[in-house]
Order: sequence, then C-alpha cells, then structure tokens
Amino acid sequence: SDLVTTQSFGQRIIVLDSTVSTQQDAMSLAEEGAPEGTVVLAEEQTAGRGRQGRKWYSPRGKGIWMSIILRPTQPLAFTPQLTLLTGVAVCRAIRRLTGVEAGIKWPNDLLIHGRKVSGILLESATEDQRVRYCIAGIGIDVNLNVEDYPEELSHVGTSLKIEAGFEIDRTTLIAVVLEEMEQLSKLYAEQGFQPIAMLWEALSVTMNRSVRAHTGQGVAVEGTAVGLDPSGALMIETDLGERIQVISGDIQL
Ligand code: BTN
Repeated sequence: SDLVTTQSFGQRIIVLDSTVSTQQDAMSLAEEGAPEGTVVLAEEQTAGRGRQGRKWYSPRGKGIWMSIILRPTQPLAFTPQLTLLTGVAVCRAIRRLTGVEAGIKWPNDLLIHGRKVSGILLESATEDQRVRYCIAGIGIDVNLNVEDYPEELSHVGTSLKIEAGFEIDRTTLIAVVLEEMEQLSKLYAEQGFQPIAMLWEALSVTMNRSVRAHTGQGVAVEGTAVGLDPSGALMIETDLGERIQVISGDIQL
C-alpha cells in the first residue's frame, strides 16, 4: 500500500479474509523462505492463539490480527528482547495515532485503564540452538464495541475505539506499527538492547510496582519490579533486598 514507507517491514503483505491463525500462515511462508518483514493479516481468525495456550478472540473486521516474520541473527536467549521491542513498537503506534496513553505490562500486554487492548505472541523455530526465524504475532482490539466482547472478556478487555471515543482506521495503524517496528529494529541492530530497554521501562506500567510472578524454575516470587536486565528478563526486588530474575510467565500487579 502507498501508506507503507518502510524499507523491509510490510514490503510484502498477505491479506486473508479468514484464517485459522496468521501465526500458522506466517510460519508456512517463513519455511518457504519469505524474507524478514513479511506480514500476514487477516480480517478474522477462527482459532487465534494467545500466550500459554490461551485463545485469542479475533472477530471479523474489528481488530488487527497480524503476524510478522523476523529473521534474527542472535542466539535463542535473545528472543525475549524481540518480544519487548514489538511491545514498544505497538505501544508507540497506539499512542501516536490515538493519543491514548497505553502502557506495557510485562512481558507484552498493552493496557489502557487496566484493561488489555493488545497482546503479542512471539514464536521461534529453532535448529540446534540456532534461531531459524521468529513470528511476531500482534493482536490489537481496534474497533470493538462494548457489546462485541463475550462475557468472559467484558471486564478484562477493551478496544482503542472504546478508550479513544472514535473509530480508528486499521490500515493507518498497521502502517504506523510497521514503521515503528522498522525504526526500533534499526536502533536495536545499531545500538543493541539498551535503548530499547529504556523505551520499554518508560512505557511500562509494571516498573516500580509491587508484583507477584514466578521464576524460570516456576518458583513464586513477590517484590517490586525494578527494571529489565540485559537479556530482557524482568528484575524483581524482594522485601529482603534480594534481586530475582523473572524469565517467563505472567505477573499480577
Ligand atoms: C497474548 O496476549 O496472549 C498474545 C495474543 C496474540 C494474538 C495475535 S493475533 C495475530 C496472531 N495470530 C494468532 O493466532 N495470535 C497472534
């Protein structure tokens, strides 16, 4: 589209009417050798996937359901950084276009007034510890109305339209997300994770908050979120002043 001013992200966009999950479609394309920045978009997903085996509600025409092929050159241990980079890109795009101050809840939920407006699912295909490719899945509730939410999501989910008070043009938002993705990827390639971590911390609603989480070993921990470590893990400081690294899972604010 004319709206896309990026060099690599979104140079190829595959638009589907209905699909099971754009993650699956992007994966097939990546297997066939599609380049970094290839995007798959769908009007609706019949079985959209969320993190930790959850479902992602993807009603027709109401949101942005998209997957982007990434071809990182770093080892697998660095992929959490890409998740955080994607969260920063989407958060900045939402703020730029709507003026609504979305915040990031670690690792990658975007919240407005405590409700989730967007989620990111980063999946990696590996071979002998090498990353062959990653698929960054982005779901954004754009123009859902209150009555579009099923009962179980009605108190936890929200849309940009509900929060901003006006319809958002999905095509423009997609273009801005891809622009942010490209800019941040460039910054990341040139200067490493540090500047991305700083942007993330500034947009985060998790920082300096008291949180409950679990470590890579599944041990429950409680403390104050104090920042990201160089790998992209969340650092929590307990009441005893001990610093603990949280690698995966969900946190409760
Ligand atoms: C989460 O918060 O649990 C992550 C949700 C990710 C949803 C997006 S929508 C586009 C892509 N295709 C999927 O099936 N999932 C991701």
